[in-house]
Amino acid sequence: MKPKIYITRKLPASVVCQLEEICEVRMWHEEEKPVPREILEQEIMNVEGILCMLTETIDADLLEKAKKLKVISNMAVGYNNIDIALAKEKGITVTNTPDVLTETTADLTFSLLMASARRIVEASDYLRKGEWQTWSPMQLTGQDIYGSTLGIIGMGRIGESVARRAKGFGMDVLYHNRNRKPESEKKLNLTYVERDTLLKESDFVVLMVPFTDETKHLIGERELSLMKKSSILINTARGGIVDENALYHALVKGDIWAAGLDVFETEPVPLDHPLLTLRNVTTLPHIGSASIQTRVNMGNLAADNLILALQDKKPKYIVV
Ligand code: DGY
Repeated sequence: MKPKIYITRKLPASVVCQLEEICEVRMWHEEEKPVPREILEQEIMNVEGILCMLTETIDADLLEKAKKLKVISNMAVGYNNIDIALAKEKGITVTNTPDVLTETTADLTFSLLMASARRIVEASDYLRKGEWQTWSPMQLTGQDIYGSTLGIIGMGRIGESVARRAKGFGMDVLYHNRNRKPESEKKLNLTYVERDTLLKESDFVVLMVPFTDETKHLIGERELSLMKKSSILINTARGGIVDENALYHALVKGDIWAAGLDVFETEPVPLDHPLLTLRNVTTLPHIGSASIQTRVNMGNLAADNLILALQDKKPKYIVV
């Protein structure tokens, strides 16, 4: 008998087909809307495997209902949506999809850095709104990227890829990480510094840490006050790493110059969120890994992980 699995979002047919060869598949057939919680609660009771997105909160309540569940395959590198400790305690395998999204996410991070520095979105809106009356010397002037200092907090795979891009733009790169990375320092000519030093000396601060209890509000009022008044904060990791209230006030007071945000504490970010009222905030709807090829690769990897775990083989990427 084929094992039963549930997929929490409509995925490309090529991904679903490979799962159907091995498993009895049920899937939430909407692309733009997450599966309602009450449906997920029903579905999870009957399956051995679930392929889920970061939009599903796999918490204690849900895991208590999942009596047959053996595998949670998360189609994301981050897994803060899952109660990992409880899954481990229950002997449920959790897998994720790193590597395949590294370069795409680094591209987007660098795009957001450039867009924020050179006010790209604001300038485009300015033109479309008919505000462009003439060329003028200081109109829509931004911050230079070339020759500036980039500080990366969290030097994992994506952090390294961002650093590589920065080198091509003639930037100096500082980093802070739990453990020093001598290999990366040598290969990419990076300088390790304490976190406060990084905040004080960087023109751009890019956050590349996972979201955990330790990194919640890692960037708050104190940290923002250490940054240069001309500096820009870029967050493509998880919204909760930044205290959004503190960020709003820092941007209003001019403690920092701008922010580029792909992620928010609550997603989708409510349209009346104070940060969305600010001219110096460039925002995106959590699209770090959103290239066609990368999303297909993530789906395929999530499917492979799920199949391998259900066959009692070692998944390619295992969290617990
Ligand atoms: C992840 O994988 O964690 C990203 O946030 C979405 O691709």
